[in-house]
Amino acid sequence: MTSAQPCSGEPLDAVPGLPRGEFQRRRQRLMDMMEDNSIAIVTAAGLAVRSRDTEYPFRQDSDFHYLTGFPEPDAVAVLLPGRAHGEYVLFCHEKDPVQELWHGARVGADAASEAFGADDAFPLSDIDDILPGLIEGRGRVYYSMGRSRDFDSRIMAWVNSIRSKVAAGAVPPGEFTDLDHLLHEQRLYKSAAELRQLRQAAAISVRAHRRAMVQCRPGMYEYALEAEMQHEYARHGARHAAYPAIVAGGANACTMHYTANDRRLRSGDLVLIDAGCEYRGYASDITRTFPVNGRFSRRQRKLYELVLAAQEAAFAALAPGQDWNAPHEATVDVITRGLVDLGLLSGRVEKLIKEGAYRDFYMHRVGHWLGLDVHDVGDYRPGGEWRILEPGMVLTVEPGLYVAPDNTAVDRPWRGLGVRIEDDVVITEDGFELLSSGLPRSADEIEALMA
Ligand code: GLY
Ligand code: MN
Ligand code: MN
Repeated sequence: MTSAQPCSGEPLDAVPGLPRGEFQRRRQRLMDMMEDNSIAIVTAAGLAVRSRDTEYPFRQDSDFHYLTGFPEPDAVAVLLPGRAHGEYVLFCHEKDPVQELWHGARVGADAASEAFGADDAFPLSDIDDILPGLIEGRGRVYYSMGRSRDFDSRIMAWVNSIRSKVAAGAVPPGEFTDLDHLLHEQRLYKSAAELRQLRQAAAISVRAHRRAMVQCRPGMYEYALEAEMQHEYARHGARHAAYPAIVAGGANACTMHYTANDRRLRSGDLVLIDAGCEYRGYASDITRTFPVNGRFSRRQRKLYELVLAAQEAAFAALAPGQDWNAPHEATVDVITRGLVDLGLLSGRVEKLIKEGAYRDFYMHRVGHWLGLDVHDVGDYRPGGEWRILEPGMVLTVEPGLYVAPDNTAVDRPWRGLGVRIEDDVVITEDGFELLSSGLPRSADEIEALMA
């Protein structure tokens, strides 16, 4: 999400890989869904302190990026459907030679209109004077309440300043509506340009996972494998991970969100790597579990092949017209039967499924939406019914099995084994496309790559 300054001649796309018109279309689609005489206010992310005067690398807010492509912190975008003087107003940091000397170039209000398509752009320092005037007379305000206490109270202050002038004829808004619902419904359906970024994110992560398999040696630290992957991301234009990597040797795989990554990898153990890069704002999310020494034990292979069979069952249930829960139910069925076959559960399969006995070993769902956010936005159960899958929806398929190290209900050698296999797919007209193709999935393929 870096900016490129427009130069003479043809204007560059301000956001690499996404045509200028794409952002305009997104704003237009949102405005088409907004009620008459309403206003939407969308805020950029701020910088977050890491330590004292040092900040985390800046990451733009996904909703703000989706609508504007504008790459700087603290900006505010305002959409005013039907406004004669322009429907899209942007507030951003003003150009400032001293700040820019230290912290880098800013776009500035003038260039923001030019490069990012705002009808009007103003310095942030003017927002208190200008925004109440834009809100005044609009009946409904769309805004994502509750994300920033600070901005919530500024909105209230602007509205109160309008209320204080009702005797002079000012009309304050009567309704506040959460923006998330409208915007996130839109973000759920990926455009062709978005799919190109998601394909590339997955392709780079596939390279990184392959490199981790090839480089893995007993005795390495988990974070050293993470570093191999990060280098591979960067070599291919993806500077950041989409989320903190999980590199979990042995029983660490049974901690769902293990990110310490600071233990040595041991021969005879499995290592579970859940990692993916972010490419031009878009996430990938891929997991592989493989033997540290390159060869699965018989027991490890059995568990692995059960998870793989569950993933295949989920794939078979992925198609437009299926509901969101179908792939999950398919994995529950395969996993419960398999756990009984392996002697990890006992009883009648139907009864075990009904009781949710598999949840001791499979405690998460089969997947989630994927996009600008790794756990992307979009309702899973709109109106109380499972979402029907449609072309353009992107999701993960990630069954797993985890035998807790302290699970005394199973034979000791099973304890502490954890396996997850996670891939990224887009629903197509006639099924799905595997975005994370080219990465070994079967135990034999993994052993062959590592040999
Ligand atoms: N990496 C987080 C997840 O798989 O959902
Ligand atoms: Mn993952
Ligand atoms: Mn995931």
